[in-house]
Amino acid sequence: MEPCEFPDIEQQLAPIFERHGRESSRLLQILLDVQEAFHFIPPEAVTCIAGHLGLPRVSVEGAAGFYSFLSLKPAGEYRILFSDNVTDQMLGNPELMQYFCNKLWLEPGKVSEDNLVSADRTSCTGMCDQGPAALVNGWPLTNLDQDRLDLIAELIRSKEPISRWPPILFEVKDNIRRADVLLGDALEPGVAIKAALERGADATLREMETSGLRGRGGAGFSTARKWSGCRASPGLAHYIVCNADEGEPGTFKDRVLLNSYADLVFEGMTIGAKVMGSAKGFLYLRGEYRYLLERLESILARRRATGLLGRDILGVTGFDFDIEVHLGAGAYICGEESALIESLEGKRGRPRNRPPFPAAHGYFHQPTVVNNVETFACAARIAAQGGKWFAAMGTRQSSGSKILSISGDCARPGIYEYPFGVSVKEILDDCGGEDVYAVQIGGPSGILISWKEFGRCISFEDLPTAGAFTIFKRGRDILQVVRNYAHFFAHESCGFCTPCRVGTQLQKKIVDKMANGNGTSSNLEELKHLGHIMRTMSHCGLGHTAANPVLDMLDKFPGAYEKKLKNLAFEPAFDLDSALETARKISGRDDPWAHLP
Ligand SMILES: Cc1cc2nc3c(=O)[nH]c(=O)nc-3n(C[C@H](O)[C@H](O)[C@H](O)COP(=O)(O)O)c2cc1C
Ligand code: SF4
Repeated sequence: MEPCEFPDIEQQLAPIFERHGRESSRLLQILLDVQEAFHFIPPEAVTCIAGHLGLPRVSVEGAAGFYSFLSLKPAGEYRILFSDNVTDQMLGNPELMQYFCNKLWLEPGKVSEDNLVSADRTSCTGMCDQGPAALVNGWPLTNLDQDRLDLIAELIRSKEPISRWPPILFEVKDNIRRADVLLGDALEPGVAIKAALERGADATLREMETSGLRGRGGAGFSTARKWSGCRASPGLAHYIVCNADEGEPGTFKDRVLLNSYADLVFEGMTIGAKVMGSAKGFLYLRGEYRYLLERLESILARRRATGLLGRDILGVTGFDFDIEVHLGAGAYICGEESALIESLEGKRGRPRNRPPFPAAHGYFHQPTVVNNVETFACAARIAAQGGKWFAAMGTRQSSGSKILSISGDCARPGIYEYPFGVSVKEILDDCGGEDVYAVQIGGPSGILISWKEFGRCISFEDLPTAGAFTIFKRGRDILQVVRNYAHFFAHESCGFCTPCRVGTQLQKKIVDKMANGNGTSSNLEELKHLGHIMRTMSHCGLGHTAANPVLDMLDKFPGAYEKKLKNLAFEPAFDLDSALETARKISGRDDPWAHLP
C-alpha cells in the first residue's frame, strides 16, 4: 500500500483504522468515528480512508455524502439536530429551534462563524413519547423547553464536553404502559436457546411455522417461510441480520426492546442461527440510537462470557455464532432490507433489484435473513413456550401480540402491547385519547384513518402496522400533518429512480402550495395521478408508499383542504401572476400594468 500523502491526518486516524481493520465493509463505521473525532469528514481523511481500504476516493466520498449524520463540510463542534417529526412539531420544536438559534445568533442549517455550533432539522429521532426531542452530536435530548435550551446554550458557550452535560438532558424513559406476552414476565437468558437445542433445528422451524409468526417490520411476511428459504439456499455462509433501523416516524418500540429486552432479541437471533446454520449475525442499529451501543456491546460480552454466544454455544460442539453491532447514520431508506445490506457492506444505502431476495442473495451475495427486532423477540418466546401457545393469541391471520408506539394527542404516550385484533377505540381509551379526529397507523407509509373508522382492528387483515400509532385530536390541521409527511418522503427518497425522486418533490411542492392557500382543484387531480405513478412505478417500498398520506387525506378528509383551495373549479395549476412576483420585486414595480388581468 502507498503511504498516505497526509501523514498528520493518517496519524490521527491510526486508532480508528486499528479498531476497524481493512475490510471495506467497515467504511461506514470508520466514517462515523472520523465524524465524531473531527466533527466532519475532512477531504484529507477521505483520501487516507480510500488508501487504507483500497477503495476509489469517489466511493468513500459517495458514501460520506449519502448519510445525513456525516458531513463533508465543517458542521460545528456541537451539531444540534431538532426532530422534525409531526409530534415534535406539535409539541413546539420549530419555535424551540428558532428560540435556540436566536439565543446563539445562528442561522438554521449554517455553522456559527467561530465554527462552534450549528442547528438544523432531522427526521424523527424515535423519542415521540418524550418530545420535543433533538440530537447533539448524535446523543438524544428529550423533553426540551426554553429552560433546557438556555442551559444547553450556556454549556456550548463554555465549551463543556458533552460527556459532562447534566444526565437529565439525555434521560430516555421506556414508558411501558401495557405489557403482554412479550414484555411481560422476563425470560431467563439461555432458556429459549436450550429449548431450541433440545428440539433440534428442524423441529424449531416447525414450531415457527405452527406459531404463524409474521414479520413485525411492516410487510408481515411469514418468518418460517423466510427462514426455511434461507436455510435451503446454497452459499459459502448464511447471515442473520436484525433490522433495528426503526426510521418510520412515530415508531419507537424497537428502542425499548433493545434498551430493556436485548437478551430476548439476541436469543431470537441465536435460535435463527441454529435453524439456518449461520455463524455470523449483525444488529443494524439506527444512528439515532447510538446511545444504546455501549449497553448492547456489554450485553453481547456477557452472553459470550456465559456461553450464549461465541464458540460451542451452551457446550454444543460446532454451534458457533456471534453478533456484531453496525451503526447506521441517519438514512430512512436503510430500513429497507436490501438497502440495509448495502449499508452493512459499507456502501450507500441504495435498494437492490428484487428478486433475487436477500434470503438467497443477501450480504455479499450469501443467503441472509433480515428480520425486525420484535420478530426476533417473538421467535425467542416461541422457542421457549411453543408455536401453539403463540398461535392461540391474536386473530386468524395475525397470531401473537403487537407492540405499539403511541404518541401525539393523548394523556399517556408510550409503549402498549396488545394481542392482535384490538380495536383502535380500545387503544384510544387506554392511552387517554380524547376527542380524537384521526389516527395515523404505521407511520407516514401506513394508513390515515378518521374517527369513523375507530372500530377497526390492529391486524394484518385490517390495519397492519410496524408499530406507529399517532393520534390527532379535533382541531388539528390534517393538511399540515400530511404536509409534514410529504416533506419527509421528499427528504428521504434516495434519488435512485425517477418516479420517486421527482414524484416526492412534486408532491411536496403541490401540498405546500395547497397549505399556502394557492391550490386549485387541478392540483387534486395531479396528486392522484402522481400517487398512482409512484405506487406502480417506483423501485422500492419507499416510493410505493410515499403517496399514502396524501391519497388518504384526499379520500377521507376533504374538509382539511377544500377550504384552502383558491378555486374549487378546474383551473390550471400554474399561477402565472404569482410567478411574476420575483420580476416585479427586481424591477420595483407593483402597478396594475405589472400584473396580469
Ligand atoms: C423505506 C423502508 C423502510 C423500512 N424500515 C424498516 C425498519 O426500520 N425496520 C424494519 O424492521 N423493517 C423496515 N422495513 C421493512 C424491511 O424491508 C423488511 O421487510 C423487514 O426488516 C423484514 O423483517 P420482518 O420480516 O421481521 O418484518 C422498511 C421497508 C421500507 C421499504
Ligand atoms: S423508490 Fe425512492 S427510495 Fe426507493 S429506490 Fe426509488 S428513489 Fe430510492
